[in-house]
Amino acid sequence: MKILITGSTGMLGSECREVFSRDHEVICPAKDDMDIISWDVVIEKLGEISPDVIINCAGFTDMKACETEDFTVRKINVEGPRNLAQASARFGCKMVHISCGHVFDGKKGMPQPYFEDDPPHPISAYGISKLESETAVRGNSPDYIIVRSNCLYGIKGRNLVKSILAEAVTRKKRPLRVPEEQFASPTWAYRLALQIKTLVEKEGRGTYHLTAGGYCSRLEFARYLLKALRLKTPVEPCGLRDLNYPFAVPANCLLENRLSKKHGLNVMVDWKKDLSSFLRKYGKQLLKEARAA
Ligand SMILES: NC(=O)c1ccc[n+]([C@@H]2O[C@H](COP(=O)([O-])OP(=O)(O)OC[C@H]3O[C@@H](n4cnc5c(N)ncnc54)[C@H](OP(=O)(O)O)[C@@H]3O)[C@@H](O)[C@H]2O)c1
Repeated sequence: MKILITGSTGMLGSECREVFSRDHEVICPAKDDMDIISWDVVIEKLGEISPDVIINCAGFTDMKACETEDFTVRKINVEGPRNLAQASARFGCKMVHISCGHVFDGKKGMPQPYFEDDPPHPISAYGISKLESETAVRGNSPDYIIVRSNCLYGIKGRNLVKSILAEAVTRKKRPLRVPEEQFASPTWAYRLALQIKTLVEKEGRGTYHLTAGGYCSRLEFARYLLKALRLKTPVEPCGLRDLNYPFAVPANCLLENRLSKKHGLNVMVDWKKDLSSFLRKYGKQLLKEARAA
């Protein structure tokens, strides 16, 4: 298949690029070559490339900036996906769009996960934009896959693994304060790229929840990560409110991969297993980068 990937310089996009190139022709225009917010550019590029599948990994992902930069957020997270969805309809190709568990408010009692057909109710500007992106894709592309995931980490881009390590190496013996009441299934972007490839190859359709197996609190995650890398920085629990985020974060971010499991297409594995594999591969590099920053 001919696969067009937008956002291929980002955390998930770079993994999709690597994983799809193993078996497919992959085209990855840079943002300057294909800015998804321009309808004219999108149409011109689609006409030129004529892909079988568009995978949209482009997005405005800075949750703090989302609260204040409404115009830009809407352009990139809503109008961009709408342009791609309309273009996918015009050129008869499939569209894969990446959304997020932040379309839910996280108020379900733990450990109940959210299912694909639960009513969404976002509580942040980022979550609202992702929900609107889903509506734009569903309403315009006749053949789409919407992927909802959460708490991605990888070797590229900003993510929870890197921010915990950056703080841990600067604090040394001063304790790192991490919330104990926020729960998720931290997901390796590489594994998610493999899962997206499986869905595309098996002609999946519709909205899928796709996160790693199992779950943990952010506190448990930080402790597991530091122990695995033999960092001695102490970790102390705190409340989500103590972090003074200028945006609301859902407390329960658990997503059940119900549809992919139902169709025998789930390739996600337990979060601890994937985090261990990730650290075996990149642990030294991550520590070096954290110390150099
Ligand atoms: N990170 C998570 O935990 C998480 C969880 C669930 C879902 N998601 C979703 O997954 C997707 C990918 O996330 P990520 O963390 O991999 O993002 P990321 O690392 O922030 O990468 C975003 C990518 O989008 C590109 N981009 C931004 N504006 C663009 C535009 N106007 N036209 C074309 N490309 C543009 C960026 O290019 P430049 O580098 O050139 O700016 C970059 O390649 C996003 O839709 C995000 O909402 C992320």
